[in-house]
Parts: sequence; structure tokens; C-alpha cells
Amino acid sequence: MDLLREVRGCTFDDFLLAPQYSIVDRRDPDSLDLSSRLTPRLVLRRPIVSANMDTVTRAEMAVVMAEEGGIGIIDRGFRPGDIEPQVREVLKVKRTQHGVISDPLTIGPDQTLAQAADALRQARVGTLVVVDGNHRLAGLLTERDLRFVGAPQSKVASRMTPVEHLVTRRGTASVEEAARLMATHKVKKLPLVDGDGRLLGLMTSRDILHQQRQPFATRDAQGRLRVGAAIGARGDYLERAAELLRAGVDVLVIDIAHGHSTVMDRALGEVRKRFADVDVIAGNVATGEGARFLADRGASAVKVGIGPGGGCTTRLTTSFGVPQLQALVECRAVLGDALPIVADGGIRRHGALALALVCGGDTVMMGSAFAGTTEAPGEIVQKSVLVPESQKSVQVPFKVLRGMASIEAIKDRLDVEDASAVDLQAMGAEGMEVSVPLRGSARSAFQEMIKHLCSSISYGGADSLCGLRASVAADPGRFLIRLTESSRRESYER
Ligand code: XMP
Repeated sequence: MDLLREVRGCTFDDFLLAPQYSIVDRRDPDSLDLSSRLTPRLVLRRPIVSANMDTVTRAEMAVVMAEEGGIGIIDRGFRPGDIEPQVREVLKVKRTQHGVISDPLTIGPDQTLAQAADALRQARVGTLVVVDGNHRLAGLLTERDLRFVGAPQSKVASRMTPVEHLVTRRGTASVEEAARLMATHKVKKLPLVDGDGRLLGLMTSRDILHQQRQPFATRDAQGRLRVGAAIGARGDYLERAAELLRAGVDVLVIDIAHGHSTVMDRALGEVRKRFADVDVIAGNVATGEGARFLADRGASAVKVGIGPGGGCTTRLTTSFGVPQLQALVECRAVLGDALPIVADGGIRRHGALALALVCGGDTVMMGSAFAGTTEAPGEIVQKSVLVPESQKSVQVPFKVLRGMASIEAIKDRLDVEDASAVDLQAMGAEGMEVSVPLRGSARSAFQEMIKHLCSSISYGGADSLCGLRASVAADPGRFLIRLTESSRRESYER
């Protein structure tokens, strides 16, 4: 089968995959390998990315994505020059979990309990490590040590658990070693010290529990959750990139509506000049030529998708775009295995995930699929909805999903609330606002998708995502069934 010809003009709903002899006993997400590359050196255990949209991904969403094995990309929908709010979101994610806390909050033994209480409150942590002037461990002071104490001016030394009564570890410890020590000695905190007793870090039972309970989570070398952030291609993007990297962001995304452009040429060139060794995903493109253009300019991965997004009106307003399945196959054909592809947008049912992931995508970016969840940013608004059966209206809670190129999002980003409606129309919006009914947590939405992806792998006769991908690539004609109008109705209309 000539795959490129077969998928021309087609997208996910134009195909089914033919079931194959299944080789797995159970479709258990814990036993099937779904790992896939986000960039050449960053592998996700679950190939799912939440979109950098201001109604989809802020810290709360990114934490869930990373805990479940995917990753979230924090949007740049903050006003130009306003870099700090985006940095704050990245820091929130990076501080959610740790392997070893390498810079735990410290206090001196001679400081007062009032100062200690202030420090705990401000940093919203439960423990202070007490160190002397030479950064040598002197003790631990927890929130509990401060409860009901009526002498706020007393010294920290008077209430701390002194180092002689602590279980400490010289040098570093693996998660397993730390868990063993904590279990043996029934402690929840393990300070790490060097040969002179100087503080190296702190391990906590809470972090260790996270590590054990979330074995698929996307973590960095220090055990912190990974997170990405978008920087744009104009204005403050270089400064934004520098600040985000300082905060520990794991991957940068430069995405503009039309990534095959002089604007991108300049932006990617500058980013690569300044940050040669950083993972940078660039997009969006939808043609082989566009994909090669980004690869040639040093992108670590290519984001593919022009016009398939749920909040997107590009195709309606410009008549430009490429059906998403065609775009993925074309870009993959050009890139080969050299660079990963993020398949961005157009996933309206879980089954489309499998098609996106075997026809070109290494990972899939989604916006609408996570809109309306508890972790999506934005106010809940109550709307009256007419129930057809009773002809009565009921109040239903909604959240808003808005395209990042919608007038509303542009207005917020550019700080142009005072501009007239005519001026704003001249900006050429390519997105819209949609109300999405509230629908529970992003975590359960994510887990449902993963279960369905595992079922797809089982139907496809594989026991891993990369196995299924390889089988389809080797013989696409065995898998892909082009649908007619009536078989599409039979398959997808319910
Ligand atoms: P889904 O289908 O998952 O798609 O909601 C998410 C992707 O849609 C893109 N996006 C837009 N595209 N105008 C566009 O042309 C917009 O206003 C817009 N907002 C988001 C984006 O690539 C996102 O990841």
C-alpha cells in the first residue's frame, strides 16, 4: 500500500484498523509498554501531552500529566513582559515532588520560634532543617514542634529535635535505601550529610510514597516532576526562555500558528544560538517540507497540526490546513526516525489516539480532551440548558475552552481591552471560545484514554506501543481500512 496516497485528504475518522491475532493475556496498563519519545532524550511512559492553552494547562494540570506519565506544557498566555507568572507555574510543578530535596528550607538554632513559624507559613512546608553557621546539621523543627507553644521568642534550639536524636545518612541514598531506613527507624524525614556533618539534602516519606505509588511518572534526575513551557517566537521569547530554564523547565515549546515561516526561522535560530543544548519542540507544521524546515533548524521534535484543534477556526477562516492523519504520515515520511513528532490536535474520541500514534505521532497533544476537567484553569459558570424530554431548563456547570488565537485570548495576551471591535477583527482571529460541561478530574480522563490505548494495542496484535507502530509501518495495508460514508456512520455515529 502506498500510505501517502492512501491517506491523502483523510483524517482519523476516515479509517479503521483491522483486528489482528492478540498476544496479550490482559490489557492491563501496568503490563503494556506505552513509552514513546517526546524528544530524542526525553521518553514518556505515557504518550500524552496537555496543550499549552490558557484554558488547559497551568501547574495543576501539568502535575497530573507528569504524575500519570505524560507531560503538560504551560502556556505563555500571560502578557508580554510578564514572565514571572509563567515561571511561577513551572516552579509549582517542580516543587511538587522530590527525590532528594537538595535545598531544603533551613533556619539557625538561635533564631526564634516566631521566625520559624513565619518561614513555614510562607514556604507552605512542614519542616525546617536547623543548621549552624557552617551549614552543619543541628536538628529538625516541624510544624508540630511549634503547636501550642506560648513563647514565640524562644530559640529554635529549645524545640527542635537535635541531631543526636535524628536518623541521618552520610552521602546520598537511593529511594529504596531511604525507604528501608525510614521503615526500620520509624521516621518520616531523612537528612543527608557529608563527612563533616554538613547538610547535603533531605528525603521525606511523602516523596518516597509518591515515587512508589506513581511508577510511570515523568520525573527528572532529581526525582522532580517534569514540565514544559511555551515561549512564542517574538517579543520577550528569549528572556522568557532563560527565566523558564532557570526555574528548571524540562522542555521549551516554540509554537506559532504557521511554523514554516521566516518568523520561526529567526526565532529557532536565536534560541539555538543561545540555548544549544536545550530540548526545544517547534511547530506547528503540517507538511513534509515544513517538518524538514524545523528539523534543519535544530528542533528537538516537530509539532504537527494545522487546523484540527477543537478551538481552532484556521481552516474555516483561511481555507489552509492539512487533514491531520495526512499531515502526520507526510511529516513522518520526511523525518524518518530522526526526530519525534508531537501530533497536535483533533483527537475527538479515544480511538483516534491509536491512529495518531501509529501513523506518525510519537506523542499526542490534546486540549479539548482535558478542557472542562477540575484541573483546567478558569472559572466555573452556570448555564441554563434545555432538557428536550421535559422542555425544562436546568443549570449546568461549564468551563470555557478557548483557542489561543481566539479574539478573547489575543485580547488578554496583548492587553488591548480598549481596542475597538473593528481593530480586533483586523488581527484575524483563528480560534474560538467553546463552553465545555464540567467532567471530573483530568486524572481519570487520562487513565481512561490509557486503558483504551492498551485495548488498541491488544486488538493490533502487539504488546507495546512501539511494537504496534512497527507492525503498521511494516505493512500498513494489513491494518488500514478506508471507510465509506456508510461504514463511517456505522463506526462513529452514535
Ligand atoms: P484539540 O483538538 O486537542 O487541539 O483541542 C489542541 C490544539 O489546538 C491548537 N489551537 C489552536 N489552533 N487556533 C488554531 O488554529 C487557535 O486559536 C488554537 N488554539 C489552540 C493548538 O495547537 C492546541 O495544542
